[in-house]
Amino acid sequence: MDNSTDLRILFDSPYPLVLVETRDEARLLELLRDEARRRNTPVWVWSAASGLARDGHDPQYGTRDPATALTFVGDTTGPGVFVFADAHSAIADPIVLRSVKEAAQTAGPGRTIVLTAPHHIIPPELEGIAVAWKHQPPTEAELAELVHRTISRLGGRGVPVTLDTAEERSLVASLKGATMAEAERLIQRAVLEDGILGPEDIDFVRRQKFAALGSDGVLELIESERRTLDDVGGLDGLKDWLRLRGSAVGSKRAAALGIDAPRGVLLTGVPGCGKSFISKTLAGTWGLPLLLLDPGRLYRKFVGESEQRLESALDTAAAMAPAVLWIDEIEKGFAASNNGDGGVSTRVLGSFLRWLQDRPDGVFVIATANDVTALPPELLRKGRFDEIFFVDLPEAAARTAIFDGQLSARGHDPGRFDLDKLVELTEGFSGAEIEAIVVGALYRAFGADAEPTTEELIAEIESTIPLSVSRAEDIAALRQWANERAVRA
Ligand SMILES: Nc1ncnc2c1ncn2[C@@H]1O[C@H](COP(=O)(O)OP(=O)(O)OP(=O)(O)O)[C@@H](O)[C@H]1O
Ligand SMILES: [Mg+2]
Repeated sequence: MDNSTDLRILFDSPYPLVLVETRDEARLLELLRDEARRRNTPVWVWSAASGLARDGHDPQYGTRDPATALTFVGDTTGPGVFVFADAHSAIADPIVLRSVKEAAQTAGPGRTIVLTAPHHIIPPELEGIAVAWKHQPPTEAELAELVHRTISRLGGRGVPVTLDTAEERSLVASLKGATMAEAERLIQRAVLEDGILGPEDIDFVRRQKFAALGSDGVLELIESERRTLDDVGGLDGLKDWLRLRGSAVGSKRAAALGIDAPRGVLLTGVPGCGKSFISKTLAGTWGLPLLLLDPGRLYRKFVGESEQRLESALDTAAAMAPAVLWIDEIEKGFAASNNGDGGVSTRVLGSFLRWLQDRPDGVFVIATANDVTALPPELLRKGRFDEIFFVDLPEAAARTAIFDGQLSARGHDPGRFDLDKLVELTEGFSGAEIEAIVVGALYRAFGADAEPTTEELIAEIESTIPLSVSRAEDIAALRQWANERAVRA
């Protein structure tokens, strides 16, 4: 429900005392005044600095002391909303706490005392007469409205704005969780950096927000990748699967239509065939931030510390949502046979599975695994990941796309090469091996001070023994494993 509906219900409830948790006092006061106006009720605001004042009037003399202010409240008659700003430190004092209780107990109908604080716990003395309420941060619609307003204001001042609609939406999403004032400040700072508001400012806002969350190194925010899923050769089944789900991540509309939020995929397969690559391009394709979780950094020696680090990393991910959480080589952190660590890895895995099962709102997990035999069976059970994909060696069409992409990414026109020949000769080669061949051929050409040709690429191919030959048995075993458990990517 939205803030004003909540507040209306609270004011209609029999509770004379409301403990509000808010990070945005100005916006809360605005909301309280709106509701009070609707009810034709005066608003009084107390702060430790100014004392108690009725809106539009001077503060009452001597009311900076909260107990005195509360006595004053008790002496007033008629309806009223009495807001005590940042009252959490004041009610730590038992006399003030008692005064709050008495003022609330004697409050007649139409009178409400509101205590605000960044965090609230109802003290046992106030149970039964107080209700706690969390003032919700701005909704996406409110932030969108703010971004929209800011863009037209900037435009009016001659500041170039180069965001397209999708990018504007990403900017709004990146502001999620900020107060209105913070959001405005973030945009202003982003503009101050270079005098324009463009797509790179989305990264700026994400970085600021990530930094403010104080991550401790388990999680890393990766700069947006310019390449997209289209730059990944082959893997059409996986790419289609991902494309279909992109718009449902963190979408209220999808949820309203009864569509389960996609929670994640696990990619396994032959080394060098694009598992990490597709993970890197996914977030950019969806216009979401990419968070890399390094499971190797979870472990610390003190009891409970590792679980805590995981929990804090997952909380950070949730605060960055909608986001893609990438866990590369997941077996490193959640391996099955980590004996002799006092059960820490088992507990960490347990926490992770619970989190995965709970479908964190707006966080999509993409995990890769190289050594599938090391993965605990719990992780592979149905209902953890939405799907497990097996990324195999690229077929001919995919190899064409990979050669094409690797050459053009390095500024060479693929049309100058005999791609059919190259593709034919690279049966059984991985994407990483094809990349190495292109790089090697460029060195050869550079050494000879000439433009690279098909011949140089062929020379590189001939001097390469692909993994599919040197480790044929391992790859056969991987495929065997995947046949029973995974979908071909
Ligand atoms: N399908 C592909 N399309 C385009 N490029 C690819 C593809 N597969 C691999 N590459 C290239 O090879 C590089 C290495 O691939 P990547 O790191 O994604 O492999 P991986 O599957 O994660 O391997 P590993 O199991 O060793 O971690 C990529 O950066 C990319 O340049
Ligand atoms: Mg990898």
